Amino acid sequence: MGLKGRDIVSVTDFSKEDVDSIMRTAKKLEPLTKEGSDLLKGKVLGTLFFEPSTRTRLSFETAMIRLGGSVIGFAEPGTSSIAKGETLADTVRVVENYADILVIRHPLEGSSRLAADYSSIPVINAGAGSEEHPTQAFLDLYTMWRELGKVDGLNIAIVGDLKYGRTVHSLAYLLSKYRVNLFFVSPPTLRIREEVSGDLRKLGTKFEERTDIKEVLPMIDVLYLTRIQKERFPDLAEYEKVKGYYRITTELLKEAKGNMIILHPLPRLDEIDVAVDATPHARYFKQVFYGVVTRMAILALVLGAVD
Ligand code: NCD
Repeated sequence: MGLKGRDIVSVTDFSKEDVDSIMRTAKKLEPLTKEGSDLLKGKVLGTLFFEPSTRTRLSFETAMIRLGGSVIGFAEPGTSSIAKGETLADTVRVVENYADILVIRHPLEGSSRLAADYSSIPVINAGAGSEEHPTQAFLDLYTMWRELGKVDGLNIAIVGDLKYGRTVHSLAYLLSKYRVNLFFVSPPTLRIREEVSGDLRKLGTKFEERTDIKEVLPMIDVLYLTRIQKERFPDLAEYEKVKGYYRITTELLKEAKGNMIILHPLPRLDEIDVAVDATPHARYFKQVFYGVVTRMAILALVLGAVD
């Protein structure tokens, strides 16, 4: 049914065909990151960020500007009427009069769906609590496809905070649309949630759960690392027990395939040693570039500038 006019709240709302069209469009628009374009001239993107962000907000802003559109919004709810007690529903009903499309990040699960229900213009979820972060998953997938030339057949390890990481949930559901082998590697207390693993089982996605990264390292094509999500822990003593659990070093990478790539949604803490940045495995900064490209495709498709 195409992407035009649709909300992007969860990757599960999209068919494989929709996802393929995002990937194809991103590839087509990639040269415009340098050349710029008028594709979205006159269109306004509203960014409502109720939680800290560097990449996602700047990436969406860059994508919009590269396509000739404009951006309004806030990154600090403390400086907006939210601080006076305005509800999310009211904020959305106000800002929809200023913009053509909204990007929302909020600490509560369900926030993005609620905003989409109230909004008459398309809403893009840029992170709703621990729940989902769909555009991150689309750009993760695009990075795998562009860097390795395929997705089907890949062995992919998703490592770190699989319980609270919203990028993990979106990526797992998105990859379930492909024929991949997944390894979920986490500390025992941060295993992938039952609801997600249950869904994957029903979808017939092949996955294994591990705690030791060394067991999977020689087998994998993609190592997707994530930050332990300190701010989501109900009890900081629990965080202290798992912080620094995984640390990828050049020494450890001797066990990996030569063409294995490392991705990370960023920000990284200490899960990847900086010495790894200089190895051919590191693709997490290239992934940032692909993020702009993927968001250009999403904005252009949802706003109906391409089909
Ligand atoms: C992620 C997020 O906000 O969920 N950041 C991002 O958007 N790239 C990952 C994280 O904060 O760990």
